[in-house]
Amino acid sequence: MKLNGSAPVITGASSGLGKEFARQLAGRADRLLLVARRVEAMEQLKGELVAGNSGLRVEICGADLGTVAGRAAVVEWVRVNGFEPDVLINNAGLGDYGVFGAAEKERLREQVEVNISAVVELSHGLLPMLRRPGGILNVSSLAGELPMPDLAVYGASKAFVTSFSEALAVELAEEGVTVACVCPGPTPTNFGSNARRADGADTNRSGQDFLKQPPEKVVAEGLRVLETGRTRVFPGGSVALVALVFRLMPRPMLRWLLRRRFRAGR
Ligand SMILES: NC(=O)c1ccc[n+]([C@@H]2O[C@H](COP(=O)([O-])OP(=O)(O)OC[C@H]3O[C@@H](n4cnc5c(N)ncnc54)[C@H](OP(=O)(O)O)[C@@H]3O)[C@@H](O)[C@H]2O)c1
Repeated sequence: MKLNGSAPVITGASSGLGKEFARQLAGRADRLLLVARRVEAMEQLKGELVAGNSGLRVEICGADLGTVAGRAAVVEWVRVNGFEPDVLINNAGLGDYGVFGAAEKERLREQVEVNISAVVELSHGLLPMLRRPGGILNVSSLAGELPMPDLAVYGASKAFVTSFSEALAVELAEEGVTVACVCPGPTPTNFGSNARRADGADTNRSGQDFLKQPPEKVVAEGLRVLETGRTRVFPGGSVALVALVFRLMPRPMLRWLLRRRFRAGR
């Protein structure tokens, strides 16, 4: 899959990794479609991207991916405006840090809708319009590799994204659509503060510093995996190593470690 001259749709482009995807693609793509709720933040990003890249066209679609109507509106926007994408980057997502029983119902719903339903419905809705050769890059997480007490719904949603990506990669390979997922570890963006509840608990637990990777690296590795036709990447050597350890560890031992860590955090 070649990204030079491409026309990517990037969700969650108002912040963090989505913004970085737009920045790294701006020098290579012909057109970009930015999708998120905060239109003003995307307008600002558009100004920056267009100023630095003559000939680049940047379009903005403000939509709430946490609703059926918002997701349908994105697919309709692409159809009506003849955008003709060849890449879809399903990046929008959110977490909610704390125990499941104390979670707000609306935050649980939002995570499932944005992290799962948006990935499924945008992929399904845009697939017939995706030019070939084309690509879908899903932003999953290291959190998808193991059960995550305090982030139970988030971790499970990312396990879905990884599994979904690997299945689609097989189905769509014959059609000229490369499907891949990038599984970052902790990355400094607004994710942690957005996942924080009113009681102030944070996803930034101690002992995670060795896993942290800059957004620039996460995005560069994500784009490279799409270009090289591989299916999954854990950006950063330490993240890849930890993912391997999680995979090899017997499940009862993993649950024992998770219990210890959970209790220590109380
Ligand atoms: N940062 C990390 O440590 C980390 C690690 C692993 C995986 N990830 C994944 O990376 C992806 C990007 O997150 P980030 O780290 O860049 O976090 P971020 O800075 O909080 O950005 C999240 C993006 O998702 C968009 N979004 C959230 N809810 C939305 C909704 N209802 N409708 C439309 N857009 C919505 C936000 O846009 P609006 O608010 O403008 O709508 C924002 O652009 C997520 O899928 C996350 O799970 C992050």
